Amino acid sequence: MKVQNFYENLSTLHVGTMDNRCWYVPKQDGRESQILLSGDDWKFAWYPSVEEVPEHFWEKDLEKEGFINMEVPSCWQMKGFGQKQYTNVRYPIPYDPPYAPGENPSGAYVKDFTLTEKEAGERQFLYFEGVDSCFYVWINGEFVGYSQVSHSPSEFEITGKTKAGSNRMAVLVLKWCDGTYLEDQDKLRFSGIFRDVELVLRPQEFVHDFTVQTPVAEDGSAEVTVRFDRVEGDPEINCTLTDAEGKEIGRAVSNGENIAIPVAAPVLWNAEQPYLYTLTLQAGAETIEQKVGIRTISVEDGKILINGKQVKFRGVNRHDSNPYTGATVTREDVIRDLQLMKESNVNAIRTSHYPNAPYFPELCSEYGFYMIAEADLESHGVGTLYTNDGHDCMGYIAQDDAWAESILDRQKRNVIRDKNQSAVIFWSLGNESGYGGNFEDAGRWVKAYDPTRLLHYEASIYNSAGYHNDVSMLDVMSRMYADTEWVKEYCEDRRMRKPFIQCEFIHAMGNGPGDIHDYMELMYKYDKFCGGFVWEWCDHATWEGKAADGRDIFHYGGDAGEFPHDGNFCMDGLVYPDRRPHTGLLEWKNEIRPVHAAGKDLAAGTVELWNVQDFADLADTVQIRYEIKKEGTLLAEGEIREITCPAHEKVCITIPRLGELSGDQTYLKLTYVQKADQALTRQGRVMGFDQIALFEEREKVLEIAEAGAVALEENDTSWIITSDRIRYVFGKKKGAFTELVRDGKALIEAPMTFETWRAPVDNDRNVRQVWEEAGYDRPWIRVYDCTAENAGEKVRIHCEFSIASVYRQPFLRAKALWEVNADGQIKLTLDADKDMTFPYMPRFGLQLVLPEDQDQVEYIGYGPTESYQDKHRACWVDRFTTTVDELLEDYVKPQENGSHYHCAFVKVGELKAEGKKPLSFNASYYTAQELTEKMHNYELEKSGHVIWHLDYGMSGVGSNSCGPELLKQYRLNEEKMHWELVIG
Ligand code: GAL
Ligand code: MG
Repeated sequence: MKVQNFYENLSTLHVGTMDNRCWYVPKQDGRESQILLSGDDWKFAWYPSVEEVPEHFWEKDLEKEGFINMEVPSCWQMKGFGQKQYTNVRYPIPYDPPYAPGENPSGAYVKDFTLTEKEAGERQFLYFEGVDSCFYVWINGEFVGYSQVSHSPSEFEITGKTKAGSNRMAVLVLKWCDGTYLEDQDKLRFSGIFRDVELVLRPQEFVHDFTVQTPVAEDGSAEVTVRFDRVEGDPEINCTLTDAEGKEIGRAVSNGENIAIPVAAPVLWNAEQPYLYTLTLQAGAETIEQKVGIRTISVEDGKILINGKQVKFRGVNRHDSNPYTGATVTREDVIRDLQLMKESNVNAIRTSHYPNAPYFPELCSEYGFYMIAEADLESHGVGTLYTNDGHDCMGYIAQDDAWAESILDRQKRNVIRDKNQSAVIFWSLGNESGYGGNFEDAGRWVKAYDPTRLLHYEASIYNSAGYHNDVSMLDVMSRMYADTEWVKEYCEDRRMRKPFIQCEFIHAMGNGPGDIHDYMELMYKYDKFCGGFVWEWCDHATWEGKAADGRDIFHYGGDAGEFPHDGNFCMDGLVYPDRRPHTGLLEWKNEIRPVHAAGKDLAAGTVELWNVQDFADLADTVQIRYEIKKEGTLLAEGEIREITCPAHEKVCITIPRLGELSGDQTYLKLTYVQKADQALTRQGRVMGFDQIALFEEREKVLEIAEAGAVALEENDTSWIITSDRIRYVFGKKKGAFTELVRDGKALIEAPMTFETWRAPVDNDRNVRQVWEEAGYDRPWIRVYDCTAENAGEKVRIHCEFSIASVYRQPFLRAKALWEVNADGQIKLTLDADKDMTFPYMPRFGLQLVLPEDQDQVEYIGYGPTESYQDKHRACWVDRFTTTVDELLEDYVKPQENGSHYHCAFVKVGELKAEGKKPLSFNASYYTAQELTEKMHNYELEKSGHVIWHLDYGMSGVGSNSCGPELLKQYRLNEEKMHWELVIG
């Protein structure tokens, strides 16, 4: 069909739309006067191009034309139409603005609705909450308008085009438009009417748009002010302010002029205590209710203050995303996310990288979250244009006048929609779009329009062609993935005056993030480090059914055969696509717990608590449960119910009998329990914990006892050790045991090996090549010398060997002493030298292949969830019993998982192991090779054994999939390794 070409025209962004307005749901006679048009009775047909859409399609015999029933809102790719695609930076179309591809897939929608006589007499508006990427609307055959900006609403007045009785609305949605170049967010690319559509019925005169502000005076009194930005007609507007209990605080009448309602002693809003007033605007038959949190935002000495108090943003980046419905989410989905965030102590959300559903900010105000509200804007793809001189193109759109209006339009749509939402602390101009005059102008507009909020835009630090963050109107220095060194330098540099936030950090992809603690230490240390937002909240995938083994089939980039795609880079959240928490979320939760404890004077039984909340007193929020335990045995426990400590302050508490019970391997664990019900969370919730060792860590003395006579025999390949219980065979060329038979039972089903490989975690994606270059994935052992002696009750085998990979020189040279007693206990004493020209290692340890039925596991170490040297803050040291099945952390993209760090002891099936120093272990039905090779968890095949890794060391997991390289202190990179281990 022929439509007027607005979609490839940078100066026609909207046709026939109403002025932007704040989001609200008007009421008449106490009922919402907006009719939800969403439903499954829309008619829909998809075409590969606009031209193929039948002319005046709404007049056709829809069934004959192939229209089907369609649920709205929805993404047509999730309904079987068009190509699914995940691309991060690269544009899904050629870069040829303002043009879209000639063949532009299009969806034709038809929806019939009826109006009563009364309704037909009112003014009527269509409110589209979100349509990707642009759309044309007709009512009863008459053209109504055109709009774009996928994640911002568009409103059209249709009064006069409708009639009492049945009316037909037709909508034509195009997959691409000039706006596509500004919507290059890292996400699955979906199309269609993906958010709700409402028909809003209004009287002749009404308030269209208004701005609420809440200045607080020095003396603590406040005002709720209202500016009427657009009023239709000349109604008298009765404004009433009530408190949360419904008690009237004040009222005012306006005929369009600004009003102010004084609040003498306001209860201020903050994310911990989200107290809301209600402002009611009544104009004729219509009322609008606006929730109002009274609060101030300011910056002082590089600190961000809310209500004059310094706050720290412990945030996440959130997309609207659902594995079953794509970019379409329900209010329930949103609330579930918010609830999980609250339960995880999160207090801030960046709506990356576009306005979330329109009701989202109101929910944040109600439940208590600080928001960075970001405009629907990212032009990252310009960074990947073809150049032959390597120059950076990131500023192309930011600095080209042709885009000025589009960039400003997106700010206005963002700011005006959400301006009355208390949760919004920052406006963000967008993401990764370079920097330049268009952003400076847009930023100036935002600051002038709303001077009460802070302005954020991270990309101001890049390719700025003379434009600079420091001289701009931006209120904060924002970075993504800045490493800890950079953060320290910034915070200590007195010339750097702006508050610092990491709008993205601790990239949560796969098994990780591993460096949370290091960042949080800095955040609590430096005033200027005001907060960070984990990238990102959820994994993005599409659910494609169930596999034969019952696993969900989640697809990510490439699985739909698209090009370009970015693989599993969309699987980088704190929760799985279906919102099961990743262990990374548990880690983040405990790192941002409300209280921190440190041993003060343990002998005297005192512990110091630090209330890291910004507003709430511990007296109102936290109770403590404590336990003193030694190797899993409970020595004492109790509760401390009343602790008084204001926000940011410290207090000492006394734990009965702490001094007397302190001793080797003894730990105090303090569990912080929520004291009273709060928004979305309940009394009794575990908010976090601290574990304090009541001893100095010392190396153990590790010996195996003499246990009766052993015999030693030799043949060409092996040493054979026997007693009345065992027959052990040691491979002279293998440098380890090839058979272990005890009490007639084979303990291993393949030779023991030294292992240096782990299935790369997503955060190893960069170092993986380096490791493969070094050959850590294919270690060959070369035994130079292997002698044995029988000392009567112990056999001793001395072995000298190296480990190298094919075509490389050895990276490790070692001397091992293996001792065996008559009970079949083995002690390994190993001294290894690493060639330091080689990179740090994923792991170093032994692998034992156990029979499949050896599936019962017990350990003392960091559990119950997987733990690594740089990721164990959700874990505590205790005695845990579990199974090989339960140890699996089933990442959709398989990778190393389920290890346990710092174990004093571990038993798998009948075999026990313990080290002189704590060790790391892993027990799985899958080999590291299997986990390395398979792209999805539902493709994994079990080995038929229990693969048991006993590791001298395992490198940390970090967050290098996007964040900085693994911190040095978490790398397994010792030149000399001394390992003592008993297995038996
Ligand atoms: C950032 C970007 C995010 C996401 C992340 C990687 O650069 O802002 O949208 O792509 O990297 O997961
Ligand atoms: Mg990007």
